[in-house]
Amino acid sequence: MSPLPPGTTIGIVGGGQLGRMLAQTARQHGYGVVVLTGGAKDTPAGLLADEEITGDFTDSAALNHFVNRVDVITWEFENVELQVADVAAAAGVPVRPSAAIIAAAQDRQLEKEALTAAGVRVAAWRPAATLGELRAAVEALGTPVIAKAARFGYDGKGQVRIDTPAEADAAWETLDHQRVVVESVVHFERELSVIVARGVDGTIGDHGVMENDHVDHILDLTVTPADVNDETAKAARAVAHATALALDLVGVLCVELFDTPDGILVNEIAPRPHNSGHCTIEAAAAGQFEQQLRAITGMPLGDGSCRPAAMAQLLGDLWTDGAPDFGRVLAEPDVHLHLYGKGEARPGRKMGHLTCVGDDRTQVRQRVGDVRAALTGR
Ligand SMILES: Nc1ncnc2c1ncn2[C@@H]1O[C@H](COP(=O)(O)OP(=O)(O)O)[C@@H](O)[C@H]1O
Ligand SMILES: [Mg+2]
Repeated sequence: MSPLPPGTTIGIVGGGQLGRMLAQTARQHGYGVVVLTGGAKDTPAGLLADEEITGDFTDSAALNHFVNRVDVITWEFENVELQVADVAAAAGVPVRPSAAIIAAAQDRQLEKEALTAAGVRVAAWRPAATLGELRAAVEALGTPVIAKAARFGYDGKGQVRIDTPAEADAAWETLDHQRVVVESVVHFERELSVIVARGVDGTIGDHGVMENDHVDHILDLTVTPADVNDETAKAARAVAHATALALDLVGVLCVELFDTPDGILVNEIAPRPHNSGHCTIEAAAAGQFEQQLRAITGMPLGDGSCRPAAMAQLLGDLWTDGAPDFGRVLAEPDVHLHLYGKGEARPGRKMGHLTCVGDDRTQVRQRVGDVRAALTGR
């Protein structure tokens, strides 16, 4: 198929900030944007779109309307019902990445099976659909383990750590008897991620290795390049490329990794840009959203290689005593402000982020943290 030129329209499934930043890039390149939100109105992405369709992901009138308005469909969120892909297939509208990749990413059991089939190493794990299976999994793996709801997890939601076999029953209750994946706790040295883009023609690229710090299971700070040796960086990128190839990716895929004393393990995948890649917007000639746009339209990929950069997430918690003083960021020449246009600031809600680009990973990390701390002056 020939590439989709500027002037054609990108369909984005999901209305969040990842869709918003894709929409910004799509606009820059002269594409139209239509967003399918699944219900919400005035979403971060929808506010920048030609049209925001607020129907449910299973509402066939809304799905038909969406599919008929766009030339290609992509995802900014994977935890959605997938009927849209069937409607798109019937209409001959390409879906990139494929619904099969989204299906694997939204179910931790399918995800682990797909990764294992791809020859990629993951933590020791067992599926469990009943309390008996959960107890048996805990027994087989040995504590500590983490039980994770199989479907639709994000930001640590639907996860319970089990430190002794006696805690399995309580975990089963906490997780509402949902089917789970049980994993051994990994004693990692650091968390890494690699964001891969793959074009329609099979060209593949990445942004190097990101190093990620989580607070309460939510990504707090990313620095690139990661503080790892060349061998580890090479291994991390190789695992991410192998995953993308095994899944026959077209689009962008984030591969979250654990760097352990005995090698790299894959934690999970997200078949879309990722908050650990936000610093690529300023740090690379072609950031992750631009790579996503290029990949899904069949255009050539850009140069994703990054200067040293760090990203600090701005969560709703910063708004507790009123809006932060953003003038303090704008006074800093090396720090970029991104706000996602979300009306209500709730604790844990991703409201925006800051990126600092410089010459040295240690320095940019310190800077972005200091500027975030100064935002509230608290
Ligand atoms: N098996 C594990 N061992 C150690 N830490 C883990 C494990 N699984 C998850 N975590 C921690 O919890 C965080 C969130 O888990 P993850 O599986 O990535 O779920 P989410 O979909 O919520 O991002 C990880 O980034 C990591 O810090
Ligand atoms: Mg994760």
